[in-house]
Amino acid sequence: SDSYSLLILPGDGIGPEVMAEVVKIVDWFGANRGMSFDVSHDLVGGSAYDRHGVPLADETMARAQAVDAVLLGAVGGPKYDDLDFSVKPERGLLRLRKEMDLFANLRPAQCFDALADFSSLKREVVAGLDILIVRELTSGVYFGEPRGIHADDNGDNEGGRVGINTQRYTSGEIRRVARAAFELAMRRGNKVCSMEKANVMESGILWREEVQWVHDNEYPDVELSHMYADNGAMQLVRNPRQFDVIVTDNLFGDILSDAAAMLTGSLGMLPSASLGAPMANGRPKALYEPVHGSAPDIAGQGKANPIACILSFAMALRYSFDQGEAAAELERAVERVLADGVRTADLMGPEGGTPVSTSQMGDRIVAALAAG
Ligand code: NAD
Ligand code: IPM
Ligand code: MN
Repeated sequence: SDSYSLLILPGDGIGPEVMAEVVKIVDWFGANRGMSFDVSHDLVGGSAYDRHGVPLADETMARAQAVDAVLLGAVGGPKYDDLDFSVKPERGLLRLRKEMDLFANLRPAQCFDALADFSSLKREVVAGLDILIVRELTSGVYFGEPRGIHADDNGDNEGGRVGINTQRYTSGEIRRVARAAFELAMRRGNKVCSMEKANVMESGILWREEVQWVHDNEYPDVELSHMYADNGAMQLVRNPRQFDVIVTDNLFGDILSDAAAMLTGSLGMLPSASLGAPMANGRPKALYEPVHGSAPDIAGQGKANPIACILSFAMALRYSFDQGEAAAELERAVERVLADGVRTADLMGPEGGTPVSTSQMGDRIVAALAAG
């Protein structure tokens, strides 16, 4: 049988609540689809800080490097807002991404028909939407040097300080994420739109030139267009179905993918896969996580929508385990439960539905899998 090692890092806030539902799904596929999962659990974020004084212990980092796939819930929360920057929960997640070199972050936004009336946009704008944002994840202004907060009291600077971050991209970093986008586009609508601010940033000019270079030399048959990211944000809410694959940098990708979330009805619906280069076994290093955060406003109340995290496991089935059939089976189960009107609080619109808790939603999806 096919055997896969999984490291589960539930994290903080609603992270553990949604991850508990994913575990039910993992168990179901283990029991019913001839896959065997070697599952281990560990801490990340504030929960790791509480135990170890750091948001990601070195042993956890080493375990993440060794498994077939990492599943992560979410990190952060008000309890940790005043911690020193170096040990904030978010640093744990950023360390995982950087040290595993997960440069391609796939953030699909699909509008399930059952939720088309629930989007904040009109049904006719979002119905049938199926786009994929490929966000560069290990470079750009998130990691560029120099960075920091320094005294800057020469002159007439009121407050006497300066905060610095650096947007920096190498041609190699741009080319590899561009390749990931073109490869994915060939298996979908064969269209890539690259977004940057080449009108104001040199790094944007390089981005545009290098994406074009990869296109012209390696993927001439994929349709490529370029857009300034601010216009891209506008186009994403004006007419999102004009897009197939969007490729963009770390910060623009962060913002554009949260905006895209609302096209699908709820941030609680959006999964993601963060992929690196192939390992010796041919599988990419990989981490799967929902796009949403730890949602401190609803944590501990059984209100969180677990679908983003569950669909992230579907992406693991597809991209890490080569189980595309099983991934589609899970996606269909989610679709059927939504079509039956089963709704966590974030999906409750004026048209009503059957209100369920986080754990009831997980049970419904397992039942839909079992019903086939
Ligand atoms: P958030 O995504 O946690 O929440 C934004 C809003 O969406 C909230 O109203 C929340 O209740 C709602 N929401 C999010 N996920 C939901 C779900 N599954 N079901 C129902 N409603 C959901 O963003 P935020 O409030 O800006 O950040 C909270 C904390 O999470 C911060 O510490 C932030 O740094 C962290 N964060 C972590 C990640 C991550 O771990 N990948 C991502 C984003 C934010
Ligand atoms: C995300 C989050 C993270 C990011 C934070 C928590 C570090 O917003 O995954 O979208 O900014 O990348
Ligand atoms: Mn984000």
